[in-house]
Amino acid sequence: MDKLIITGGAPINGEIRISGAKNAALPILAATLLAEGPMKVSNVPHLQDITTTMELLGEMGVHLVVDEKLNIESDPRSIKSFYAPYNLVKTMRASILVLGPLVAKYGRAEVSLPGGCAIGSRPVNLHVDGLKQMGAEIDIENGYIKAKAKRLKGAKLIMDVVSVTGTENLMMAAALAKGTTLIENAAREPEVVDLAKCLIKMGAKIHGAGTSTIAIEGVDQLKGIEYEVLPDRIETGTYLVAGAISGGRVKLKDTRPDMLDAVIVKLQEAGAIIETGDDWVSLDMQGNRPRAVDIHTAPYPAFPTDMQAQFCALNAIAEGSSVIRETVFENRFMHINELQRLGANVRMEGNNAFIRGVSKLKAAPVMATDLRASASLVLAGMVAHGDTEVQRIYHIDRGYERIEEKLQQLGAIIRRVAD
Ligand code: UD1
Repeated sequence: MDKLIITGGAPINGEIRISGAKNAALPILAATLLAEGPMKVSNVPHLQDITTTMELLGEMGVHLVVDEKLNIESDPRSIKSFYAPYNLVKTMRASILVLGPLVAKYGRAEVSLPGGCAIGSRPVNLHVDGLKQMGAEIDIENGYIKAKAKRLKGAKLIMDVVSVTGTENLMMAAALAKGTTLIENAAREPEVVDLAKCLIKMGAKIHGAGTSTIAIEGVDQLKGIEYEVLPDRIETGTYLVAGAISGGRVKLKDTRPDMLDAVIVKLQEAGAIIETGDDWVSLDMQGNRPRAVDIHTAPYPAFPTDMQAQFCALNAIAEGSSVIRETVFENRFMHINELQRLGANVRMEGNNAFIRGVSKLKAAPVMATDLRASASLVLAGMVAHGDTEVQRIYHIDRGYERIEEKLQQLGAIIRRVAD
């Protein structure tokens, strides 16, 4: 298993390109199942989760061609199975995104339940209940969701909890249902909007994506198209924190700072000078230590839970004390134990982390526990005194394209070594 070794204290000053958004690419690749013909998806990040999705589609018989730029051509006409096995779903919960398209287009699906997850129980009841309300017959048997339907019909779906992939799954299913579906309390994340734009280009009739009520008027068929995935706002935010935590300067290109308002405000509060253009953002800390900032995670447009761990690292070395409250997931603070190993001063109380900034962290071996938690350890390693070894980095490879190369480009001293 690979690990990352980071030598803390290197000055950070550089420019990098941001990759396509993992969380938009995953539902869009699932949406290719809905098309009558081949689709070409571009700006797909080179990540383990994308490989897993391709394996999943490939096992179903979808014909996939990937070019050297990782544009993915997906032709669902050769599909022969409607089955998502446990061995793939357990490594990537977002595999559940094939459920809606399979039931809507092919009338059947057998998708493994994702099972436990490091960041809380993460159920899929909203996905299942929504499809049932649209007329699907669903049984949960032997750890699998077994779904059947003739043609789904439009329904009024009120989501108890704001769910990103839940909204996406039901929006994809509704695109081919008979009649109109209303999704109330829908997720407003930019990735939901990107999926809606892709579906609209395929011929779907969708209104209100990006608001909490999405109306989908079902159509009989959707066509294969070319689509470019939007930039990754969480990758963007993570590299901004890399600049902030190290007192350095970064410029990030091919991104969309308008999707990061809540994060940018917090970085400014921490003392960063931020400039933005339509497709770039820069951060300058002018050599200063960041000031502690309080964080409260919530669905978009509020502060993203996927940036919480990175801000824990930032606050760990900031001047002053902060409270970080996680409201989206239970149990998403596994990075705290590891940050403490590096010398962070944190007290946990339920879903609140009380952090008192220390002026120095000290290197130690640490273990990545989930995707964003691992990013926070790399960030902390960049300012810890000595060589920090981050183990189990397969979590990072699920969501950050070539993280060590990009950080090296910014000036960090980081290398990947095989164990
Ligand atoms: C997506 C993102 C993930 C991000 C999360 C929250 C993808 C592939 N992943 O995950 O990076 O951290 O949004 O922004 O886009 N819930 C239920 N029942 C359900 C579904 C969800 O109770 O059927 C709850 C969850 O337990 C959680 C909350 O809803 O407490 C939000 O989860 P959700 O938005 O569904 O997360 P994901 O879509 O899995």
